[in-house]
Amino acid sequence: MRAAVVRQTGDEKVEVLDNVELEDTGPGQVRVAIKATGVCHSDLSAMSGVIPQPAPFVPGHEGAGEIVEVGPGVTNLAVGDHVIVAWIPPCGQCKFCLNGQANLCSAITMTVGYIPRFKLDGMPVWGMAGTGTFCEEVVLPSQAVVKIPNDVPMSVASLIGCAVMTGVGSAINTAKVRPGSSVVVFGCGGVGVSIIQGAKLAGAAEIVAVDLVESKREDARRFGASHAVDPKDLGQVSVEVTGGDGFDYGFEAIGLPTTIRATYDAVRRGGTACIVGVGKADQMVEFSAFEMFFAEKTLMGSLWGSADVRVDFDRMIRLWRTGRLDLESMVSQKLGLDGINQAFDDMKAGKVIRTLIEI
Ligand SMILES: NC(=O)c1ccc[n+]([C@@H]2O[C@H](COP(=O)([O-])OP(=O)(O)OC[C@H]3O[C@@H](n4cnc5c(N)ncnc54)[C@H](O)[C@@H]3O)[C@@H](O)[C@H]2O)c1
Ligand SMILES: [Zn+2]
Ligand SMILES: [Zn+2]
Repeated sequence: MRAAVVRQTGDEKVEVLDNVELEDTGPGQVRVAIKATGVCHSDLSAMSGVIPQPAPFVPGHEGAGEIVEVGPGVTNLAVGDHVIVAWIPPCGQCKFCLNGQANLCSAITMTVGYIPRFKLDGMPVWGMAGTGTFCEEVVLPSQAVVKIPNDVPMSVASLIGCAVMTGVGSAINTAKVRPGSSVVVFGCGGVGVSIIQGAKLAGAAEIVAVDLVESKREDARRFGASHAVDPKDLGQVSVEVTGGDGFDYGFEAIGLPTTIRATYDAVRRGGTACIVGVGKADQMVEFSAFEMFFAEKTLMGSLWGSADVRVDFDRMIRLWRTGRLDLESMVSQKLGLDGINQAFDDMKAGKVIRTLIEI
């Protein structure tokens, strides 16, 4: 079958090959025909090594498709079901899953999740984050898919799989933005505009978007930002909006030490800085030993919007159905599997919110 393959960490381009094979669908697994898959910055980060990922691998994790085969023992899914791929499959039994923190479940991810299920010339090929959606079909543990109603467009469903759940979830689940608060969001890609939409849903009074690229700032305004500025103008807008105190909530959706630090600095004393962007494990962010206590800010990370996708994907779908989330406008362009390298180039150049790969 056709799949995009990254041969080794550090490769700047993927190869789209026709001779990638799939392992058989084993007990407890399903085979999914991928129909749509968004291109997330985390795919680029897995290629560059910012996010640890065994190679060679099939990138892609923001995907939706249709079940085409069900392995022995799978009783809750059937051929023909439409599903969103879940890149952290909740095992349903560990203390995280039982404690409302299914996004922190590592039981499957760290075991069967990292068994390579693709093959190329007889050699094992992994899937990005245990999934790998830039391909025609993928075999996954049954917990790594969430069934959705068949009338949800695959494009909408795929975005929910990462950017939307991550961004909206960080605002409403992780940071729990309160109505009437002031919010600043650094980075206006797919994740950033989803944070903006989540903050708007939560009733934020002002949402200030920060991005280096003018077209992304325009995008941010379309999705609900009340202000959108270049980083150099943030100080002035902060004075206008907050009287110079700083924002109630800050979100970082870029993944750089400088912007993580800037997010913390943009937040008022007692406010919340929520870090969504993913940087490298050896990149450090400095905080003074004095400011932590004195500013009494809450510094929090957010992984996949603190979601329990078994219920939260459905929340996102219903918010989209009722017009409270605009997911269609997040797609800047639609390409086929052959367009993946172009999609990566466009993302690096800041030209797109999301490229959708249709298969
Ligand atoms: N926490 C999670 O669970 C999770 C899930 C998905 C993605 N992510 C991470 O979220 C981040 C954003 O992902 P995305 O797909 O939206 O990326 P993206 O590349 O589409 O968007 C990043 C945006 O940041 C802007 N930008 C870059 N450097 C900047 C700077 N110094 N100052 C201001 N703006 C700057 C770019 O112009 C772009 O608009 C990535 O780090 C990604 O790995 C995290
Ligand atoms: Zn992602
Ligand atoms: Zn679990």
